[in-house]
Amino acid sequence: MTRIAMSGAGARPRPRAAIFGINPYVPGQSAAPGAPKLFKLSANETPLGPSPRAREAVRAFADRLQDYPDGAATVLREALGARHGLDPARIVCGTGSDEILHLLAAAYLGPGDEGIFTQYGFLVYKIAILAAGGVPVVAAEKNLTADTDCILAKVGPRTKMVFLANPNNPTGTYLPVAEVKRLAHNLPAAVLLVLDAAYAEYVNRPDYSSGLELVLACDNVVTTRTFSKIYGLAGIRLGWCYAPPDVCDAINRIRGPFNTNGAAIAAGAAALDDTGHIGKAATHNETWLPWLTQEISALGIKVTPSVCNFLLLHFDGETQARAADRFLLDRGLILRAVGAYGLPHCLRLTVGTEEANRLVVEALKDFVKPEGPARA
Ligand SMILES: Cc1ncc(COP(=O)(O)O)c(C=O)c1O
Repeated sequence: MTRIAMSGAGARPRPRAAIFGINPYVPGQSAAPGAPKLFKLSANETPLGPSPRAREAVRAFADRLQDYPDGAATVLREALGARHGLDPARIVCGTGSDEILHLLAAAYLGPGDEGIFTQYGFLVYKIAILAAGGVPVVAAEKNLTADTDCILAKVGPRTKMVFLANPNNPTGTYLPVAEVKRLAHNLPAAVLLVLDAAYAEYVNRPDYSSGLELVLACDNVVTTRTFSKIYGLAGIRLGWCYAPPDVCDAINRIRGPFNTNGAAIAAGAAALDDTGHIGKAATHNETWLPWLTQEISALGIKVTPSVCNFLLLHFDGETQARAADRFLLDRGLILRAVGAYGLPHCLRLTVGTEEANRLVVEALKDFVKPEGPARA
């Protein structure tokens, strides 16, 4: 075969320059070589796993692998509508909420358009903005918490989107609903506010809202949700958003026609049915999140108060955080380093099983004791 020389030797397809400005998302570790038993506490997965009904639905789906799924994920959107009291026509499902975040950025950002997110906000926002050709703009946080005024101060003529994780990963902090409303009401009407409520089911505060009601009140607000956290379905990749009709229309035009796979649709609908299982997962978190916070703080390690299923632990600098990470890894306890978030002195710990939680506290006790590695 002859190649047609178009532009000289060495020519090859090149992605857009902006692609090279993206640092690929690096997930938390999931292996600890040499440790006898592993406890993965690095990805905010639920220690209870999914509902048995979801497992059963996936098994049953194995007999239908040859069929394309329903591209509109109708069963699931209707189940979500019934569970949350929402209009299914305003729901779009996707392969994890990550996909929804990317679709929103792709639909609303063009070259030079700005997308705002907060200082310690979830890393995928920056990736989605850059991938869409937009310009990432960072709004400062106060006390590791998003700040409405700092976000509003960053809004300019090129701003098209604001991404707010509420509550936020990796900090575990949240903005009360009054502040979210103030943000929504003070943004220009043409700026899309994306409220990412991946951890909403864990939040047990009277002044918190995932923002579903704001979507009805404002034409420029979207909320994104996931089945990866309390529903325990991270492996099957399932997320959704509740959005104004024209936002649904925009992302429905660009999503893959069968973007939500059939196993995920079946598992999600079955999981929604099992409110008892979700209740158990919430109760587990309500027991162990405060326990871990108290026990770890008592060791002299600062813990950011969290409303999620994880905690941010602060060490005396990056060297000590790395040493703690290694020390815990040797005992099979895998935490998440968060240097990529600009928090190299911190580690993020997911609430685990009772066994895992107790082992973490024991290990940290040994780490900080006078003759332990923290003092070395
Ligand atoms: C704040 C936040 N948003 C979105 C996601 C993405 O979740 P999904 O698994 O649905 O893509 C995560 C996952 O860690 C998250 O922490």
